[in-house]
Formats: sequence, structure tokens, C-alpha cells
Amino acid sequence: AVVPQAASSDLPSLDQLRSTVAACRACGLCETRTQTVFSDGVPYAPLMVVGEAPGAEEDASGLPFVGRAGQLLDRMLTAVGANRASDVYIANVLKCRPPGNRNPEVAEIEKCSPFVFQQIAVSQPKVLLLVGRFAIQTLLGSKKSVGELRGQLHHVTVQGRDIPAVVTYHPAYLLRRPEEKAKVWDDLLLLKQQDFTQGSA
Ligand code: URA
Repeated sequence: AVVPQAASSDLPSLDQLRSTVAACRACGLCETRTQTVFSDGVPYAPLMVVGEAPGAEEDASGLPFVGRAGQLLDRMLTAVGANRASDVYIANVLKCRPPGNRNPEVAEIEKCSPFVFQQIAVSQPKVLLLVGRFAIQTLLGSKKSVGELRGQLHHVTVQGRDIPAVVTYHPAYLLRRPEEKAKVWDDLLLLKQQDFTQGSA
């Protein structure tokens, strides 16, 4: 995957990045959102989850994955022994809510995705969980479907470092298609096999 590569010395802190995001007016989404949604969980945690974009609840609270999809994500994390209060850093590809939760547009992803790559570069997770096609396609630089990409371990190269990435369906999709949940358990097993416990080499 082709990703923006900044020299380490060029990296802002997560607080600086959060302020830059809050002030961003690079696309039209800043006109309609309530606030930017930067991250939740624990910076520098070994596991980082990347989703698509804020929805209504996220736009209102300023935190990613707090609505129904977020509750399912929390259950998925529990299944791998992880918890957003202690072991997981969570962010989205888009920091502003698309009106009516429409899909992100290509130009919006191009403007906004450097922020999530920078969050990865700074937070340095040991493993990534990418949920849904927009996070997966953006971070892997692929146009393939989730169905084609899931079931194997991928890598996202950030700053010359290959970070293992497990890809799976978006929890909002699973709420609409519960019959797909069985596949997600397989993906979570693959995630569990990655050693992302704190302090491991
Ligand atoms: N869906 C996402 O992809 N991200 C959120 O923060 C909420 C719902």
C-alpha cells in the first residue's frame, strides 16, 4: 500500500494533530458536522482500530464508535480480550460526519486520510484492526471488497514499518447482516493470534 511517509522528526504529537484536525477546513464536511471526532481509547496502545467516519452519536459526543455499531465493536474487542478503556486506540478515516451518514467521497478520503496515517505513525500500534471497506481499502491501498480481503493477514506500511492488519466487516454492516457474524469470529481469531499484549516484543 502506498502511504504518506513523513520523517519521524516531522511527526506532530497526537495533541497537535488533534488541534490540526479540529481546525481543518479542507473539505465541505466541516460545514455540516457538529464537531470533529479524533479518537478514543488509549494512545500508544498495542491494538488500534480504524473505522470509517463518525455517525450521529459520534458527531454529538466527539468520540468514535459510541453508537450501536460501537457497542458491537466493544463486544468484538471483548472477544479478543481487549478493552477501549485500557488496551485499544480507536480512530476513523474521516474525522467529520458525512451528512445523513452517506458514504465518504473519494476527495474527502484523500484530504482526511493523512491524519489517520499520522495517528498510526505516532501511536505505533503492534496490530491494526480495520473495519469496513473504507478503512480497509484506504489503509491497504486496495479496491477489493471486504469479502475478498478478509481471511488473511495484511500489512500496512507506515514510516517504513510493516504493521500487521486484520480486516473484517464493519459492525454497522453486521447489525444489518447478522448472518455474517460467524465470519467475523474467524477474523477475530486471526486477530487474537497476533501478539498485541502490552510489553511484548
Ligand atoms: N462507524 C464508524 O466507522 N466509525 C464511528 O466512529 C462510528 C460508526
